[in-house]
Amino acid sequence: MCGIVGFIGDQPAAPVVLRAISRLEYRGYDSAGMVSVSNGRIYFQKDVGSIADVQRKHKLDRLPGEIALAHVRWATHGRVNRVNAHPHFDCRKQIAVVHNGIIENYQELRAELEGRHKFVSEADTEVLCHLMEDYIEESGSLEEALLRAMDRLKGSYAIAMVSSREPEKIVATAKDCPLIVGLNGNSHFVASDTFSFLDQTNEVVFLEEGEVASLTKGGVSFLNRHGEEIAKEGQKVDSKWEEATKEGYDSFMLKEITEEPQAILRALMQDRGLITELAREISRARQVVITGCGSSRHAALLGSYLLSKLGGKLCHVLTASEFHYFTDSMAKDTLVIAVSQSGETADVIDGVKRAKARGVRVFSIVNVVGSLLARVSDKVIYINCGPEICVAATKSFIGQVVIFYLLAFALMGKLEEGIRKLELVPRQIQENFEQIDGKLKELAQRTKNENNFFYIARGLNLAIAAEGALKLKEISYIHAECMPAGELKHGTLALIEEGTPIVAICARDDTFYETLNSVEEIKARGGYVIGICAENNDSYDEWIRIPEVQEIFYPLVAIMPLHLLAHHVAVARGKDPDRPRHLAKSVTVK
Ligand code: AGP
Repeated sequence: MCGIVGFIGDQPAAPVVLRAISRLEYRGYDSAGMVSVSNGRIYFQKDVGSIADVQRKHKLDRLPGEIALAHVRWATHGRVNRVNAHPHFDCRKQIAVVHNGIIENYQELRAELEGRHKFVSEADTEVLCHLMEDYIEESGSLEEALLRAMDRLKGSYAIAMVSSREPEKIVATAKDCPLIVGLNGNSHFVASDTFSFLDQTNEVVFLEEGEVASLTKGGVSFLNRHGEEIAKEGQKVDSKWEEATKEGYDSFMLKEITEEPQAILRALMQDRGLITELAREISRARQVVITGCGSSRHAALLGSYLLSKLGGKLCHVLTASEFHYFTDSMAKDTLVIAVSQSGETADVIDGVKRAKARGVRVFSIVNVVGSLLARVSDKVIYINCGPEICVAATKSFIGQVVIFYLLAFALMGKLEEGIRKLELVPRQIQENFEQIDGKLKELAQRTKNENNFFYIARGLNLAIAAEGALKLKEISYIHAECMPAGELKHGTLALIEEGTPIVAICARDDTFYETLNSVEEIKARGGYVIGICAENNDSYDEWIRIPEVQEIFYPLVAIMPLHLLAHHVAVARGKDPDRPRHLAKSVTVK
């Protein structure tokens, strides 16, 4: 949700910043901008569109100077237009600010400042520019003024600023939003995600709540929330630079779906000792709460079924945005498992902080190395699936699910056996993909004009049905709803009409015949049944084959067909699957 990059060094900054911010497009693509400082003057360009669109139109990389900031926006306050794009300025255009997050009390602040300052945008960020304008007159430096301004701000933020009054530096701070400083000799970065500059340096400093960083060519210094100088050591992030390109695929989504078999193998690369230790903690905990949002919540849901079915442990799944309504009833010996691809999702971080404040232990399942969630958790398991660029989660979902399989097998005391079995699944998924992809494309053509889809399953596969429905609505904008097959007759059956598409996951497990009963009820009302099953059945109007596997592995082989179906429907409707409207990959606002 909005991305920031800043660079200062001994070379033209704009091309460096452009390259880095382009890697953060997943954080926002409704508008973008860049600001640089050269010979004591501020230069900027900003506009509506993705960073690539704005570069094409305004040649951002030609902005002069060796200091620059850039921003990609996902609108929170104010419409998508040029004026609301970042950077924002004070009245005299001496201070330029880029911001990720939400200043919750911006209306009060704006009311206070409006008489004396001229506001030009609807963005919450602009109040900070004008506050800075006031405080810089009274304070000796940008840093001091920023610290004073922070006392007035409520909400969450990662902020970077430059000023023609102090043209040799970038000043940055963060609260509840990620901001990372990258150190590389005389060149320094500040960014929302290390991924943006990891090809240049992997030596980083994570800004903790309320700390202020000053980046100059001479080095980087840090202040704590009280303005006292603090020493912060750079640390090496242990992740390799992987340039995320489409590699000939039409979209990142399609590329990432095809990486799902590989994602299983990568998620299996775990420290066995850690998995066993965490399984022990799950077993000992009085209550286990698993939390996440969106696809990560679906992985959590499947995790709860696995931990119950294989490990005999009943776990509660809490949607992260609802987590805090339950915190008061959490006992100390509760264990929280937080699931997040980005490790930045504000609702997840908030829940984890609340849990920790009650003395609850937290471990997390994360993809992005060194992310906020990873840092606030007591223990972290990385899913190792590499950068996931598409807003819609695909390979990360399967990676998260694999971790729950491992934990469940470890709970049974059968980790090694489980790993051996899991290692066989990717090949089956791959072979099946080659057989069904053409059919899924035809099905997408046939169903692309539908207004509603329903997804049903039972047991372990319910989370997969939920994931399929989310993916379809997220990128194709068709309404899709998932429910346990048994729930249909309690209301939703009333919506089934002649031709209504229903995707039914009919796993060849102990749920098979009961799910088939629901299929029959749908057929009797004219529904168009798409059966996801290892074998065909007269009740299906369309059969999408999945390989025959051991009962507990059906969720793993059913994911890819549903991700592909969503992708193909979106493409058939002329939508860009990588850039769903109104969404962003990292949801850093609550
Ligand atoms: C999934 O396709 C969505 N884009 C979204 O629901 C996502 O899973 C959710 O925002 C959680 O993100 P996280 O895994 O980074 O926490």
